[in-house]
Amino acid sequence: MTESSKKILFIGAGRMAQAIIAGLNKTDMTIVASNNGDAKRLEEVEQKFGVMTTDSWKEEIEDADMIVLAMPPEAHESVLKEVELFVKDQFIVTLAAGIDPTYLEAKLPEGTPVAWVMPNPAASLGKSVSLYTLGKHVGEHHEKMLEALLDSIGSSEKVTEDQVHALTPITGSGSAFIYRMANSLVTSAIDTGVTEEKARKLVADMIHGAAAMLQTGEPPKKLIDQVASPGGVTAAGLEVMDEGQFDQMMQDVVTACHIRARNN
Ligand SMILES: NC(=O)c1ccc[n+]([C@@H]2O[C@H](COP(=O)([O-])OP(=O)(O)OC[C@H]3O[C@@H](n4cnc5c(N)ncnc54)[C@H](OP(=O)(O)O)[C@@H]3O)[C@@H](O)[C@H]2O)c1
Repeated sequence: MTESSKKILFIGAGRMAQAIIAGLNKTDMTIVASNNGDAKRLEEVEQKFGVMTTDSWKEEIEDADMIVLAMPPEAHESVLKEVELFVKDQFIVTLAAGIDPTYLEAKLPEGTPVAWVMPNPAASLGKSVSLYTLGKHVGEHHEKMLEALLDSIGSSEKVTEDQVHALTPITGSGSAFIYRMANSLVTSAIDTGVTEEKARKLVADMIHGAAAMLQTGEPPKKLIDQVASPGGVTAAGLEVMDEGQFDQMMQDVVTACHIRARNN
């Protein structure tokens, strides 16, 4: 069996599962999607992606090569209790915040290969930057399967379990913080008299360009200096950010995410 003819079972068929299915669907992996009983959602998934769906994942688990847990963190405990009964050598991958390999290995039979992937919503455009980390029993063939999944939704970085926890507020939640800033800039643009559509396009194009500049590898500080000449217009705006302790606020934002993740 080639890597591309593996069978992947999704438990959870929401936004993130669908983003991954959209990418994986371009490979010839066999995809089966299931969920918590929302029949309408499964029907939509079947129609949109032409993949198999089932209202009983237990019937599809036995010959699955990889099982993707694409459901909320709080659903994991009860679902893993059931998955545990069926696991032989299936590779179990979770997408859920806080559900690390240490947790999965403790809930599953000794020797089960597990991984934790932290994608972001840009997965739906094939532009996620995903963090991932592997459990103790993952072999080369498992990693290859996972790479196919990760490649289908964007770029990825293999890091340690602790780093996935630590970096989730940045690569996982980070886009929301950019959108928050974008929303303010769109409002300011509309105030100048342009249409909302135009305002959104201007801001999106500006962020796209800024991201492209960052991707050249230049440090952000140097890029700031390129835009802001001393005493100039942009410098006046940056001074307001300094007065509002923007950098401290962003650190507090990341810390708040860590605290919430720990308490969930
Ligand atoms: N969305 C993101 O940007 C993002 C980013 C990184 C990580 N994640 C993680 O990805 C996971 C899924 O997120 P999502 O955004 O796709 O959520 P979502 O759109 O709310 O979908 C959740 C899915 O989980 C299913 N589900 C819930 N409880 C279940 C259970 N007990 N058994 C089987 N299926 C169950 C739901 O079933 P029904 O269809 O029957 O309701 C639904 O299909 C979460 O753990 C989240 O932390 C999401």
